[in-house]
Amino acid sequence: MGTNYTEAIELKALYEIALLIGSAHDLATTLTSILKVMHDILQMERATLFLLDESGRFLSIKASYGLSHDERKRGVYRLDEGITGKIFASRTPFVVPDIHSEPLFLNKTRSREVNKETLSFLGVPVLVAGEPAGVLTADRLFGLDIPFAEDIRFLTVVATLIAQFLVLSREIRKNEAHLREENRSLRARLTPVFSRHDILGQSKVMQEVFVAISKVAPSSATVLLLGESGTGKELVARAVHQASRRHSRPFLTVNCAALPENLLESELIGHEKGAFTNALALKKGRFELADSGTLFLDEIGEMPLELQAKLLRVLQEQRFERLGGTATISVDVRIIAATNRSLAEAVARGSFRADLYYRLNVVPIVLPPLRDRAEDIPLLIDHFLALSNRQNRKSVRLSREVMDFLVRYPWPGNVREMQNLMERLVIMADRSQVQLTDLPPFVVAEPEEAGPRHTLPGLPVSGGSKRPSLEAMERGEIEAALKRHGWVQARAARELGLTARQMGYKIRKYGLSRPEFA
Ligand SMILES: Nc1ncnc2c1ncn2[C@@H]1O[C@H](COP(=O)(O)OP(=O)(O)OP(=O)(O)O)[C@@H](O)[C@H]1O
Ligand SMILES: [Mg+2]
Repeated sequence: MGTNYTEAIELKALYEIALLIGSAHDLATTLTSILKVMHDILQMERATLFLLDESGRFLSIKASYGLSHDERKRGVYRLDEGITGKIFASRTPFVVPDIHSEPLFLNKTRSREVNKETLSFLGVPVLVAGEPAGVLTADRLFGLDIPFAEDIRFLTVVATLIAQFLVLSREIRKNEAHLREENRSLRARLTPVFSRHDILGQSKVMQEVFVAISKVAPSSATVLLLGESGTGKELVARAVHQASRRHSRPFLTVNCAALPENLLESELIGHEKGAFTNALALKKGRFELADSGTLFLDEIGEMPLELQAKLLRVLQEQRFERLGGTATISVDVRIIAATNRSLAEAVARGSFRADLYYRLNVVPIVLPPLRDRAEDIPLLIDHFLALSNRQNRKSVRLSREVMDFLVRYPWPGNVREMQNLMERLVIMADRSQVQLTDLPPFVVAEPEEAGPRHTLPGLPVSGGSKRPSLEAMERGEIEAALKRHGWVQARAARELGLTARQMGYKIRKYGLSRPEFA
């Protein structure tokens, strides 16, 4: 590869980066695009930009190309740690020709486990006014016949551009901050919202959910989230917390279906040392730990009756004593509760206290099932498809027929089921376009004994047009999931978005058991 050729490529890359900076709208996106240019044009496998975080103590990933979400999350370094830290502290570039023979190489993101022998690593400091502000790193294939010095020189130029961009955008941000605040509520009303707080939805019902979140978040009112499994209750709970004044305070979750009664109680209010046989040390409860933040009580419908009475007291008084303790602890906790059961029915049946129900039901938000908001389905499919494609480095698309089919599919597991299905389709796809025949059987097939549910277009519908009962559908759904997961209940439960307890209950209810083999 001739020098002129290399230079021409580098020039092209610089030109594109300059264009990106010139038309920048948003810091994170622009930085990511810059790294993508490095990947596309320079054959750098992965590129990562670390910046000093607000505490001034850690380097964390601000933008990356080629890392998955999890890898990005792992990539936080102390200033004196690893090669990234060393580059930062010494303000000097560093090259590791073969990353597997370098002890300093912590490989925190664990992203380099494939292609073991072939990768080399390059890193340069990002300097703002002579002071280190971050580190720019890239991996490239070992043995490209470009000298490392060449790449380092180039990375340094990019790091300089990035540094200038950072300074510039900080200035702009300062000026814009107050303007933005003024415009915020106005804009929220003017722009059509397809996505708020990471929640996607263009349907009218979801727009109403967004409005409800925005209205309720700033108050400390208790919120009750109602909706089938996988409709986004937890997502909304987090969004309410994020949009509230408590957002920098803790958000804690207690799953009321996951623990037996006695453990659940001490999980909520804690216990003193010696309160009971296994109470070897003092343990603070979630109410205490969530003080001045938000406590998310998931699957509240599963809470045992006796505990409901205690919970009500804590909610009303915001005070309690730890188990085995006498001192009264006062807290300021915002409660968000969620359930996929009808609490009103549970109240009528006597398995849920009416007074607690009214205490929780101050602001109910109902999350509609996917089948009732078909207009959101393509939007969500595109989103999860893009996500899985990115994670798996593929570019799988759905055929028109598959999309049409999925828009009419009833999605018993709602958004979670869709997320899983898209991931599965991307992973399994061995061609660029998914066809109807690629859909897994449980999506297209009729659950056994449950009658027709949702058949492929054009296929004859057996059994006439009689609709199967909900129970039969559920039974079929559960049995099919168990089969898919080799009767491992926990896995089947996870796929369907059920708790282990709910799964056990349904298995008993429908008398399901693993078929025996002779
Ligand atoms: N409107 C949405 N936009 C984007 N992602 C969504 C949306 N709704 C749900 N999801 C995603 O679907 C998955 C399931 O959502 P979530 O865990 O919030 O459901 P849930 O209602 O709490 O379910 P369960 O009752 O089973 O606990 C999550 O990964 C969530 O991020
Ligand atoms: Mg949930």
